[in-house]
Amino acid sequence: MEIKNVAVLGSGTMGQGIAEVFAIYGYNVKMEDISEEILNKALKKIKESLVKLEQKGQLFGKTSDEVMSRISTFTTIEEAVKDADLVIEAVPENLDLKKKVFSEVEKFVRKETIIASNTSNIRITDIAKDLKYRDRVAGLHFFNPPVLMKLVEVIKAEETSDEVIDVLVDLVKKIGKYPLKVMKDTPGFVVNRINAPESLLFCLYIDNKVATPEEIDAYFKSQGLPMGPYELMDYVGIDIVYDSLEYFAKTLNPCYGKCNTIKELYNNKMLGMKTGKGFYDWS
Ligand code: CAA
Repeated sequence: MEIKNVAVLGSGTMGQGIAEVFAIYGYNVKMEDISEEILNKALKKIKESLVKLEQKGQLFGKTSDEVMSRISTFTTIEEAVKDADLVIEAVPENLDLKKKVFSEVEKFVRKETIIASNTSNIRITDIAKDLKYRDRVAGLHFFNPPVLMKLVEVIKAEETSDEVIDVLVDLVKKIGKYPLKVMKDTPGFVVNRINAPESLLFCLYIDNKVATPEEIDAYFKSQGLPMGPYELMDYVGIDIVYDSLEYFAKTLNPCYGKCNTIKELYNNKMLGMKTGKGFYDWS
């Protein structure tokens, strides 16, 4: 099946980045969120990013305005998904919310539409559990910032058809990215399952005053990485890290819920770059 029309549900950091990528590669994108105000903020961010790429000649000869014109916005799921060949859900990391969104999507899409989740960690099989047609549901996990990060995990849930996985793997290549095919649907898939123990360890270093974020980040940057682990957590969002650790505590091992520093940052709404403060002060 050929994908031409893509609906992206949720216009936060990941949703807006995913919408941008598909628009750059010539797809028609419908982006949905709960208010015009949120959608307008997302459009502004996409435009800023596209202008940077345009200035560097990285839009395949298109202008940022041309790319922007491929993105339309909606405040109802019905309008966003009704013509879609592919729906990508990128709402907050909450299983009940995702299940609600998926059951809403199923009401309005054609039978052959592929429905994917950009969840970082939650098993796709659990998200799809109550749907009628589960063979067309899969994971499509982008990394932040989607426009620059090359990797996309393509996750096969217990009932996903092989055909759907093949279409998604092919699609990921068409948008200039590298597909990592994940054939077993477990919490965190491949990449975040590797990252999770590291995130826990880095947080426990701070709980136990082993060293400061500055010192540990300086070590990692001296090894050639663009960001140290604490800068990266601030960049990705402390709320995202917190949700991941809580999910792993529930599904894998309670020790993932033992980090006090991350809980304190989360409870004080110090969510990293997006709120101006996290491990670091970004204001
Ligand atoms: N759009 C377009 N261009 C962008 C951009 C965006 N959103 N973000 C950064 N850039 C460009 C900048 O304009 C800059 O371009 P020039 O070099 O031409 O000036 C270039 O990228 C570098 O950016 P910066 O100078 O601002 O900063 P940097 O060198 O630190 O790069 C970064 C930024 C690309 C994000 C880099 O720090 C990086 O790769 N960090 C690691 C990101 C990463 O590991 N992401 C995965 C997170 S884990 C995840 O996402 C999993 C999950 O499930 C939550």
